[in-house]
Amino acid sequence: MDITLSIIKADIGSIGGHISPSQRLLETVRAQVTEHGKALLIDSYISHTGDDIAILMTHKRGVGDGAIHKLAWEAFMAGTEVARKQGLYGAGQDLLKEAFSGNVRGMGPAVAEMEFEERPNEPFLFFAADKTDPGCYNLALYLAFADPMNTPGLMLSPPMDKGFRFVIMDVSNTEGDRVIELNAPEDLYDIATLLRNPERYVIESIWSRADGGQAVSLSTSRLHNIAGKYTGKDDPVMLVRVQKTFPATGEIVAPYAVGPYVAGAMRGSHQMPLMPVQLNSGISYFDGPPVVSCAAFAMHEGILTEAVDVFAHPFWDTVRDSVSRKALDMRRQGFFGAAMLPMDELEYTGIVEKLEALDTRFVIREKHNDMDTAD
Ligand code: 13P
Ligand code: 13P
Ligand code: MG
Ligand code: MG
Repeated sequence: MDITLSIIKADIGSIGGHISPSQRLLETVRAQVTEHGKALLIDSYISHTGDDIAILMTHKRGVGDGAIHKLAWEAFMAGTEVARKQGLYGAGQDLLKEAFSGNVRGMGPAVAEMEFEERPNEPFLFFAADKTDPGCYNLALYLAFADPMNTPGLMLSPPMDKGFRFVIMDVSNTEGDRVIELNAPEDLYDIATLLRNPERYVIESIWSRADGGQAVSLSTSRLHNIAGKYTGKDDPVMLVRVQKTFPATGEIVAPYAVGPYVAGAMRGSHQMPLMPVQLNSGISYFDGPPVVSCAAFAMHEGILTEAVDVFAHPFWDTVRDSVSRKALDMRRQGFFGAAMLPMDELEYTGIVEKLEALDTRFVIREKHNDMDTAD
């Protein structure tokens, strides 16, 4: 049976700045999806990571379906009304267009979808990150799908030794989707060359070369490309199918123990380590650190089991401690050097006007005679 998984996610307001949506807001979105999704959906799951609410839906309507996207858009619109009434911060923050026009792509909400023939057992993982951008998954996906040091399945599990096809998007291109397809293992160095720059090159999807099945779909939107200015971080969501021809769950989640420095945290303008957190966690220190949650599901004919909280396991407490230490170390140097994002990422913020004003005050010093004759 062909099933579509759709995640549509938006920040429509939160308590105490950018920490977490209110329970009433979550309930409103949940009630809207249940009420208006009756004829469209098989199942759904509503959760939040930091200040972002994600709607996970199962259905048979394929990817990019107008009715599914409209359902999510209208649930977020209804939520925005509640956010306004509760005085939540940033009510409707990610709804960047006035009216729905066919598809939420390019309108602010993040979207990750895939359609596939459901396997007799269908384990998959739903990741959501807050206070960071879609490149935050580059390293973990590279390690999980291309590196036998992380993924013994590439050696031990025969269908996986055919490798995986990476579809990588150049997210700096605002005129359309600029993508490249590269195959692991033979294009490994080219894949690494692109993925080392997570602000520009982002994995959009990954496919099995053994059976052509889609393993990964992730949201690649850059909000500043839509709004033309900083309106919030992109806070990406991702679906990963696991086991059999795909890496095992443990191989997919192991790389999050690295806690790599990613773009985000305060005002979306810093380099901070990515912390794996429990489902429905908020954020705190320095509007961060950037967080990622992971809900594991099984599914049969589109009906979801309960979510299992992957990063709730005690193992991840040690990782969280290490990430906290990395965060504190980086914050000690404030605005200096690597602690903040490079200029091309900051150019959507007020720093541009500051630099322009300062530029007019620079002078070129006249050359001294003794320097003229120095050599
Ligand atoms: P089980 O024997 O518990 O099914 O585990 C198989 C496996 O390969 C886990 O990585
Ligand atoms: P969000 O994108 O999660 O709303 O965060 C915005 C921000 O600037 C936090 O400092
Ligand atoms: Mg916010
Ligand atoms: Mg957010």
